[in-house]
Amino acid sequence: MKDQRNIPLLKAIREFEEKAPVSFHVPGHKSGRVFNEAGYKYFQSVLPIDVTELTGLDDLHAAEGPIKEAETLLSDLYGADESHFLVNGTTSGNLAMILAVCSEGDVVIVQRNCHKSILHGLMLANAKPVFISPGYDPEMKTAGTVNFKEVEAALHRYPNAKALILTYPNYYGVGGDIEGIVEAAHERGTAVLVDEAHGAHFVLPGAFPDSALKAGADVVVQSAHKTLPAMTMGSYIHINGRLADAGRIRFYLQMIQSSSPSYPIMLSLDLARHYLAGYTEELADSLYRATEAFREGLRGIQDIKLVEPAAKADPLKVVIQSVKGYSGYDLQAALEQQGVYTELADPFNVLFVLPLGIEQMKEFEKVLTSIRKGIKEVRGTPSLDHPLKPHFPALAELAYSYREMDLRSIKYIPLKDSRGRIAAEFVTPYPPGIPLLLKGEKITDDHIEQLQSYLALGARFHGGERLGKGEIAVFI
Ligand SMILES: Cc1ncc(COP(=O)(O)O)c(C=O)c1O
Repeated sequence: MKDQRNIPLLKAIREFEEKAPVSFHVPGHKSGRVFNEAGYKYFQSVLPIDVTELTGLDDLHAAEGPIKEAETLLSDLYGADESHFLVNGTTSGNLAMILAVCSEGDVVIVQRNCHKSILHGLMLANAKPVFISPGYDPEMKTAGTVNFKEVEAALHRYPNAKALILTYPNYYGVGGDIEGIVEAAHERGTAVLVDEAHGAHFVLPGAFPDSALKAGADVVVQSAHKTLPAMTMGSYIHINGRLADAGRIRFYLQMIQSSSPSYPIMLSLDLARHYLAGYTEELADSLYRATEAFREGLRGIQDIKLVEPAAKADPLKVVIQSVKGYSGYDLQAALEQQGVYTELADPFNVLFVLPLGIEQMKEFEKVLTSIRKGIKEVRGTPSLDHPLKPHFPALAELAYSYREMDLRSIKYIPLKDSRGRIAAEFVTPYPPGIPLLLKGEKITDDHIEQLQSYLALGARFHGGERLGKGEIAVFI
């Protein structure tokens, strides 16, 4: 292991600052000398380090100085062959990994409930996706994880698949059998690309699930900003093995990302790596105990239930539900009335993302009182349980290539008459947050019936703008 106590980018920025430099360069705020008074107090400490690729400060897109050293420490910590800082979020890493690995017409096996950046990457590459459905989590009533057998069946059916793209863990922190899946894909020469946006801290010891990197995945992208103490948009990409060409990934990263990468973001990424590296097993154990104490506190609050963590779940993710039939949105609004802001709500759940900071975890004892108060004052209309359990084809191909979809026109037709037509939009009911219809998928009677049932229940959708009027977009 390299000396993880070093923070190369911090050292370089400090040395630069000590020179009391006169700025005749971009950015226009000139180290904070020129700025709008109205917001200056919020920016004043950051502007001096909001520098650019000046002598001694390296270049993200051709790193050979402190950024290179910082990225080398990063790959050393995570056990990757090569790692890079991302300043445009996991979104940019997902795009780059797909474009680098998948070419036009390549078959790619993809988890159906993936982030839109994965779909956008597939569109840009004009790859040929085959979607596998995740399991359904009956407790949370949301999309679960993909299971080994289904991935294996997909790999068997598409032996030439160029890549398998997984989302690990899901938004709610649930992992799955990633090791077996990676092994099965590698046996067939299929690269495993993992969107690990929610798992940058999985390198920690103890109760944390293993990172997909440990399971041998070829490319792993992590939103450092989601769970590590890093600035928003700061992410990491890690590359391992021979199935993904690191040179191509670097090429696409400089194409997709800004040519003026933010030094505050990059420095925060270096600092987050240093913070993680200093996290001992003992600290990780105390953190786990503190998260458990918080969960125990929630278990004691009337009228809500803690969704008990699944095996291989992230201890930083905590999910509660109302036992009185209130929606997650009602619970979330009641908590906000007490100044408690959570990560997300869906029709059933409210998700808390806990910090890595043990001191902050301890302060949460007091927050439990506010949560208790909020739950007592929840308003809304309690509703009955959602009777629908959605089902999806185990494997779904698209009828047209993405290029063909680009060239075709679209029109809206009545949903009831859409059987056999090709959907021109995604329709994703929440819950469970899995697209019921994919853009480019052939519409079946089953799709129509399920959509009509969701509509009758007043479900919320992403996409399906005119579904309320009984219409769906199809390709002509
Ligand atoms: C699973 C998943 N992947 C990718 C992203 C995009 O990450 P970023 O915001 O770092 O671009 C998100 C964002 O919420 C996500 O949930």
